[in-house]
Amino acid sequence: MSKVVLAYSGGLDTSVCIPLLRERYDFEKVITVLVDVGQPSQDIDRGNKRAQQLSDEHYVIDAREEFVNDYIFPLIKANGSYEGYVLGTAIARPLIARKTVDVAQQVGADALAHGCTGRGNDQLRFEAVFRTTDLKVVAPMRDLDLSREWEIDYARDHGLDVPVSKSRPWSIDENLWSRSIEGGQLEDPFFEPPEEIYEWTRTPESGVPPEVVEIGFQAGIPVSLNGQAMEGVELISRLNVIGGKHGVGRTDMVEDRVLGLKARENYEHPAATILLAAHKDLEHLVLSRAELRFKSQVDEAWSELAYMGLVDEPLYTDLNAFLDQCNSRVNGQVRMKLYCGRSIPVGRSSPDALYSQDMVSFDSQTLSQRDAEGFAKYHGFQSRLLRRKG
Ligand code: ARG
Repeated sequence: MSKVVLAYSGGLDTSVCIPLLRERYDFEKVITVLVDVGQPSQDIDRGNKRAQQLSDEHYVIDAREEFVNDYIFPLIKANGSYEGYVLGTAIARPLIARKTVDVAQQVGADALAHGCTGRGNDQLRFEAVFRTTDLKVVAPMRDLDLSREWEIDYARDHGLDVPVSKSRPWSIDENLWSRSIEGGQLEDPFFEPPEEIYEWTRTPESGVPPEVVEIGFQAGIPVSLNGQAMEGVELISRLNVIGGKHGVGRTDMVEDRVLGLKARENYEHPAATILLAAHKDLEHLVLSRAELRFKSQVDEAWSELAYMGLVDEPLYTDLNAFLDQCNSRVNGQVRMKLYCGRSIPVGRSSPDALYSQDMVSFDSQTLSQRDAEGFAKYHGFQSRLLRRKG
């Protein structure tokens, strides 16, 4: 009996894939895998219900801790950001793909399937992992070149209760780190997003009084919130709520996809915005100038690989080793002020600071200022010589 294992989200595209894999690809058994990476529990419940109705066998895998420890924490160490995008969808894909492959190997499947289109990045991220096996890879959305309108009608014809309607046509991808919103009128980059696309963040203009939160870091990863030790999943969930109240972490941008297509993208990611700003601020207190300069290049190279979903690329592992080493000294606290959609550091401290108040203070005489005179005489030496000639 021919079996296919589908990476299933419970959304429109992957729901439509289930009957399509039988009708158009002749698979006798469609097995669905829903990976929990911190999307809302209603989405998971709805996905489970639909899968039970539609697929032959269904697996739900809680991968939240793995997502935080093996994907989000390395991202924080790398100040991960691609053109200003915090990479939520991008870093979850390899994990979802890996879990799907595990099930396929366990059940002895013939093929792996995903519901990505041929226009986006997700097809590349899934297949970079799927193709590490010898299983056949099937992508119905890409092969059949289906429009969303066709999918909605097909879904309804198959008795699927699909939440998307033609008047609210957003394609949403959600996990603990970010919520991505695409499609419909948002495809016109000049169109201002309506408030209804946002679910995690209140409008920044809402006038909520400012709030300060304190985040504790150990070896580059967040370990406490307002002085209370906390596991990653809980800390990120809580910061999403607190930051969301202040309208922190909305991004509206034009992004360069791997294929070269430019796309208008909207995101919400309060915790990501707060944690990345806090982490970067703390790095400036503890890392040397040379480390910071070099690390910004490492961060960019890491982010680009993460965006492409190339987590098996050896360079990705090499960069992670460097990032772990640098971050071993990123310990301390950062106080972040949240207000009107902004999240700014207002205080930082660390036992590993390369900062000396005694040396730098206007009020101190520990350092002899006159010693700097010799340095100043040589600073800009060559340009001065050139200027005197002209
Ligand atoms: N542009 C983002 C990325 O490539 C997000 C894609 C989100 N997908 C969605 N269905 N909204 O990572």
